[in-house]
Amino acid sequence: MKVIVTGGTGYIGSHTIVDLLNHNFEVVCIDNLSRSKKYALEGIEQITGKKPIFYQIDLCDKEAVSKVFQEHKDAIGIIHFAALKSVPESVEQPLLYYANNINSLVNVLQAIHTYQIPNFVFSSSCSVYGNADTLPVTETTTIQTAESPYAHTKQIGEDIIYNFSKAHPFHQNILLRYFNPVGAHPSALIGEIPLEKPNNLVPYITQTAIGKLQQLTVFGNDYNTRDGSNIRDYIHVCDIAHAHTLALQYLIDKKNATTVEVFNLGTGKGVSVLEAIAAFEKVSNQKLNYIIGPRRAGDVVAVYADKTKASTHLDWHCQYTLEDAMLSAWKWELKMQELF
Ligand code: WQD
Repeated sequence: MKVIVTGGTGYIGSHTIVDLLNHNFEVVCIDNLSRSKKYALEGIEQITGKKPIFYQIDLCDKEAVSKVFQEHKDAIGIIHFAALKSVPESVEQPLLYYANNINSLVNVLQAIHTYQIPNFVFSSSCSVYGNADTLPVTETTTIQTAESPYAHTKQIGEDIIYNFSKAHPFHQNILLRYFNPVGAHPSALIGEIPLEKPNNLVPYITQTAIGKLQQLTVFGNDYNTRDGSNIRDYIHVCDIAHAHTLALQYLIDKKNATTVEVFNLGTGKGVSVLEAIAAFEKVSNQKLNYIIGPRRAGDVVAVYADKTKASTHLDWHCQYTLEDAMLSAWKWELKMQELF
């Protein structure tokens, strides 16, 4: 069975393509390479022995999208990752984020409808919850005001899919809300490739450890948590990837009860920044150079998932630990030295 993956040379997209190919799907990968490297396709082939069909197009180009979808209208489903995802960049350039993330989604949905492709999996985010007032976060936790334009584009994207599905109930949809994806494929042949200075914690840790960055600043240790630093739900990217394969299969098997279903993808465990650093130091045998600095605007104190729904409905269970994630992130950082 054929699946179209947008944003497929990106971090989560490339890991998901590996999982799909390993589960005998045929994959068509679409990416404009604006925030990723074509190298990901080589890594995917080295891991799986298979190569996705690749198109370098911009999903904001309606004609180009329609042409590719027409060529692959026999696809059983679409997994839509392609989006800009830097929280601070979205604060500086909100219109770039609204234009890119919304227009690309609308073009993809338009093409899905034109060519009657039945199944759609959307890459959403725990950031749609905003500053959740109850923990752990379940799929029915009240959605608060988004903390950033990036998170707002994900909230809008979910609303668009709901309304699209009401108008066209032929299409079956799943929204996957990721918590904090971290780590890399155990082979160290693919991973996260931050194109500039990273915003996220784990690439910042590994770049500090390898000497690309001088020092890590922990953004505050005076929060009301067990060690004063923020709590997050760090989940291995390979566990996230496999959830996409399971979600697509769930729709193919028509197990969904409604035309739009939402699943949290998190480990269900909260980990503090200082605990994450300690886990890295343990598995890498590197002493990390960090200081405690001021709080970062927009940070929520704590957020972690209730993963019950994905575990029961998708039979999805995390295979990797935080330490696996930290070790794989470190191995990938070392590998990137040779590659780029
Ligand atoms: C994690 C923790 C920081 C860097 C991310 C994505 C967002 C969404 C959810 C997908 C925070 C602390 C970080 C540093 C630090 N994912 N930190 N020093 O903010 O939870 O959001 O996951 O949609 O898109 O951005 O992740 O990695 O930036 O921060 O102390 O140099 O690490 O304060 O507590 P965040 P993050």
